[in-house]
Amino acid sequence: MADKSKAVAEVDLAQVKQIVDEYSQQRWALIPLAQKIQNEVGYIPPQSVPVIAKTLGLFPSQVQGVISFYEQLYTKPRGRHVVRVCRGTACHVRGGKTILKLVKQHLGVEEGETTPDMEYTLETVACIGVCALAPNVVVDDRVHGRMNPKKVEQLFRKNGD
Ligand code: FES
Repeated sequence: MADKSKAVAEVDLAQVKQIVDEYSQQRWALIPLAQKIQNEVGYIPPQSVPVIAKTLGLFPSQVQGVISFYEQLYTKPRGRHVVRVCRGTACHVRGGKTILKLVKQHLGVEEGETTPDMEYTLETVACIGVCALAPNVVVDDRVHGRMNPKKVEQLFRKNGD
């Protein structure tokens, strides 16, 4: 049986090379290039760091440093939906910790991880600015306020469950 993860990585890298070629020797373009790779591939495969560095005329450590610095740049594939549980003070005081625990249980992943079916990536965030609705969970761009155990269950209930 073929190694599926390897096949995926190879496809991603070919796609990365195509994108990177457009920016040859344009050192200034590291961030826009990284964003473009992420937009088109879904993340920045770690194997692409030397390719990016060589094409832009930078050291791999410089490329890695920039990618690691920006939280919005991802080096792992992400799920179709991103779930963000608020860890701000208001949400924490109103049970955010329990909500996070329940979300982890429902998804079966820890923070920063993606479910094996690539459906959800779980993250935590600082205050998202709607403290009045605490505790909050954001799924993609939609805020789900006043969360409680029942709402967590409803949020992740799969069809047929
Ligand atoms: S603390 Fe969660 S929205 Fe402000």
